[in-house]
Amino acid sequence: MRLSVFGCGYLGAVHAVCMAKLGHDVVAIDVLPEQVTELAAGRPPFHEPGLPELLAETLATGRLRFTTDAAEAADATVHFVCVGTPQKKGEYAADMTYVRAAVADLLPALKPGDVVVGKSTVPVGTAERLLETIQDAEPAAELLWNPEFLREGLAVQDTLTPDRFVYGAAQRDGVPTAQATAAMGVLDEVYAAALAAGTPKIETDLATAQLVKVAANSFLATKISFINAMAELCEATGADVTRLADAIGYDARIGRRFLNAGLGFGGGCLPKDIRAFMARAGELGVDQALTFLREVDSINMRRRVRMVDLAREVCGGSIVSRRVAVLGAAFKPNSDDVRDSPALSVAAQMQLQGAQVTLTDPRAIDNAKKKWPDLQFADTVEEAVRDAEVVVLLTEWQEYLALDPAALREHVAVPRMLDGRNCLDPLAWRAAGWTYRALGRP
Ligand code: UGA
Repeated sequence: MRLSVFGCGYLGAVHAVCMAKLGHDVVAIDVLPEQVTELAAGRPPFHEPGLPELLAETLATGRLRFTTDAAEAADATVHFVCVGTPQKKGEYAADMTYVRAAVADLLPALKPGDVVVGKSTVPVGTAERLLETIQDAEPAAELLWNPEFLREGLAVQDTLTPDRFVYGAAQRDGVPTAQATAAMGVLDEVYAAALAAGTPKIETDLATAQLVKVAANSFLATKISFINAMAELCEATGADVTRLADAIGYDARIGRRFLNAGLGFGGGCLPKDIRAFMARAGELGVDQALTFLREVDSINMRRRVRMVDLAREVCGGSIVSRRVAVLGAAFKPNSDDVRDSPALSVAAQMQLQGAQVTLTDPRAIDNAKKKWPDLQFADTVEEAVRDAEVVVLLTEWQEYLALDPAALREHVAVPRMLDGRNCLDPLAWRAAGWTYRALGRP
């Protein structure tokens, strides 16, 4: 099938490559010439495991091309909208500039029978407005809402073999219109491989489909903040939040996943999505329904403050002029993304409060440098921890989990380890002579 993908950021680039992998003919469109040039040359502008290989493979087939020219979408019959919806500056609401611009660019290319598929995370109500805009330009084109649930670090796998599909379609009297039904048939062809493999599909109305995405991210954020609230209780009582999570996680109704207490959530999705959801609920007059998300956000942000306080505590009351080694800048492992990264935010706070911070990360140093050029950066752990008075682990990269406490001790001035992700074995570190402290653990 001939597809166009608007937006070559995380979502769009991965989607375009994966659709080409499935055998479709894909044109991927972005307004940023550098993004297009890099991708066309086989270089993804962000770190995502497996993507460089798949990009090279699909470019070589000739089925995938990148361009800044939206008119090239005219050859395609299915058009995916994959542009970003970041948080507006100074507000909770989502910035819809890129979605509106992408759809405006697409309109002249639309033909009867074309299907526009929205994948961006948007405030509920957006799809209904876009459908009007699209059908004003081409009444025989249809819009479906098909949210994306990919995780950074697992984006290729999540796109090729998702755990579910959600199709939102225009309905009349509770049933999809004839044109929407036909459009869903077209989308079934796009996803034929995964559907044949038994991936569940939920067909619903446009509003529900848009809500599913923000509801899912809000639930995940709530789960993380719940366990981090328990960590606060554990800190006040001498209990151990990791054992608590293990114990409640065995209840299948609760589940152990997304119950890792520590520095909390960050990245380009969870934080801005819960805020945009609150803003939208306010506009709809149901803000009370999401008041709890304010608390979820506060608990999450308090973990960052607590981490800095913990550093102060182990340094005897002040971090001024203390040499602090920070391991991790990315918002999570296997990513070079530092958007709203708890790790980078804690590193920057410590620096602002007078510490001498040296930061290392296997992948995210370049992006961290752009945000906080005043920090010191080191390429290796050994270099970062040299003469450190405290080492702070903030992103649980596999290579940090595998650190040898005895060997690392040789490099530091004072063996103090603060584990912001509850990912090290306290007994092993203490046995090697380290003062080990963590969030929510005695
Ligand atoms: C998230 C969702 O998990 C995806 O399903 C969704 O598609 C995506 O947002 C999106 O909206 O596009 P992602 O931002 O890649 O994916 O990251 P997550 O794996 O959800 O992790 C988010 C944050 O939560 C990270 O900072 C991570 O360190 C933190 N986290 C996660 C915890 O603090 N504890 C946990 O137990 C799990």
